[in-house]
Amino acid sequence: MRIGLFCSGGDAPGMNACIRAVVRAAVTGGHEVVGIRRGYQGLLEEDFHRNAQGQPRMTLRCVSNILQRGGTILHTSRCPTMLQEEGQRRAAEVLQRHGIDALIPIGGDGTIRGAMALSRFYAGRIVSCPGTIDNDLCGTDATIGFYTAVSTAVEAMDKVRDTAESHERLFLIEVMGRHSGYIALYSALAGGAEIACIPETPTDIPAIVEQLIAMKARGKTSVLMMVAEGDELGGAYDIQRLLEQNGCPYGTRVVVLGHLQRGGCPVPEDRLLALQLGSYAVECLEQGHSGCMVGVRNGRPVRVPWEEAIAQHHLVPPELVRLLEAMAR
Ligand code: F6P
Repeated sequence: MRIGLFCSGGDAPGMNACIRAVVRAAVTGGHEVVGIRRGYQGLLEEDFHRNAQGQPRMTLRCVSNILQRGGTILHTSRCPTMLQEEGQRRAAEVLQRHGIDALIPIGGDGTIRGAMALSRFYAGRIVSCPGTIDNDLCGTDATIGFYTAVSTAVEAMDKVRDTAESHERLFLIEVMGRHSGYIALYSALAGGAEIACIPETPTDIPAIVEQLIAMKARGKTSVLMMVAEGDELGGAYDIQRLLEQNGCPYGTRVVVLGHLQRGGCPVPEDRLLALQLGSYAVECLEQGHSGCMVGVRNGRPVRVPWEEAIAQHHLVPPELVRLLEAMAR
């Protein structure tokens, strides 16, 4: 098989580990891997990764020493052209012309939507890997990059807590997650934040202010509030303004972590996930599967139909929302 491999959408720590797993599993299995640079955009522009001999074929050595590196050696992009039929037809034509008979895209929901559209015109098989810090795809316990993003947020929270405590302030820390509260909720729990504003639950400002007044009365001198960028009331600055207008009893400051969360060495959980998923994607193609994403459920690799993976945003576990409330004393 000649397998095309690319990353698309926002980068995520562990994408390189996934690339390595795909290449090593495929080459060992007697297949050829064509690395496509810059996602769907690079595919349309026929921008292929070249090995040390200058050939558009990824060798075992092309992926040496990348397991621990953040970002993606194949680069990535967002590609509006793939939203149109003309772009989808052109991408299929490029794949066919280069004899690429299967594809492994690594990315989030936009990447899956692109693959679904492409598969209307492309005769080859496509099996995608979930690579996004957002952890918003259904059917997998986690997406590649999520654990590292949480770890980065928690590291920042520990530092913010020091200054929050010294000045007896409330800090609103904004984390990524366009439609998802996963990073906000998990980091809130792991970093000891008192409150998480997430799109999955209503953010009730008067109720939060009441909770803050009660905390202050119990002698709590500092508060960390995690805010998912996709919260229905807006980002951390919007919520800060609303808190102040509603009588927040603490002085407030905002920290926006932004793209920091997308960089850095992947933590071991993301590396293991990426290795497992990358090699399983190759196995799925070998077995003739297509039109699905690979995921991990209860430690075991699974195939998830694309429709199911993106049918809704992966909902945060309600028991963890309750756990956070119980811990915020
Ligand atoms: O999809 C991952 C993500 O990091 C989201 O959490 C965030 O909203 C978005 O990408 C930011 O994208 P960009 O880097 O294109 O601004």
